[in-house]
Amino acid sequence: MAELSKEVLLTAEQLAKRIEELAEEISRDYQGRTLTAVCILKGSFVTLADLIRKLTCPVSCEFIRVSLSDENDTPREVQYTTPFEIAGKDILLIEDILDTGVTLNYLINQLSESGPRSLRVLVLLDKSEARKVEIEADYTGFKIPNRFVVGYGLDFNERYRELPYITWMKS
Ligand code: XMP
Ligand code: MG
Repeated sequence: MAELSKEVLLTAEQLAKRIEELAEEISRDYQGRTLTAVCILKGSFVTLADLIRKLTCPVSCEFIRVSLSDENDTPREVQYTTPFEIAGKDILLIEDILDTGVTLNYLINQLSESGPRSLRVLVLLDKSEARKVEIEADYTGFKIPNRFVVGYGLDFNERYRELPYITWMKS
């Protein structure tokens, strides 16, 4: 049975420091523009909340979900919590973790069709060993080993999202 590790992979302090660095970089890159930060639910809501409070450029926040098909874990459709303008906007997708790359690859293709002015991706965590689709994020928090991680928004069966640090499940 999966069990929570007692060790910590990334502490709250490490996460806060890296988010601040990313926010500085993004604020510089988007100077003079209004960013549309698109949170991919549910796992990314903590990253989004911490990131936007460190930005110095104007930002609007949108939320989407990707539903997966029943047979396998391939994306099926984007669900918009409320519809929002993509055409002509500077879109930054915020994802908790880049694993096989299938989800982000699908989303980038879908959103590109609506003609954004720019489309970039921020991932908090990158499990590059697990990649099936060739894709790199524009902004990456941390490269991590190929383990099932939880905390700071990430869940195991909807549990552990509230942990202020990131740890992993022991199988
Ligand atoms: P792909 O494989 O499409 O999937 O890049 C990315 C999505 O899979 C989920 N995922 C995880 N969720 N701990 C989690 O809580 C993990 O270690 C993990 N690895 C992948 C996540 O929802 C992400 O959006
Ligand atoms: Mg999940």
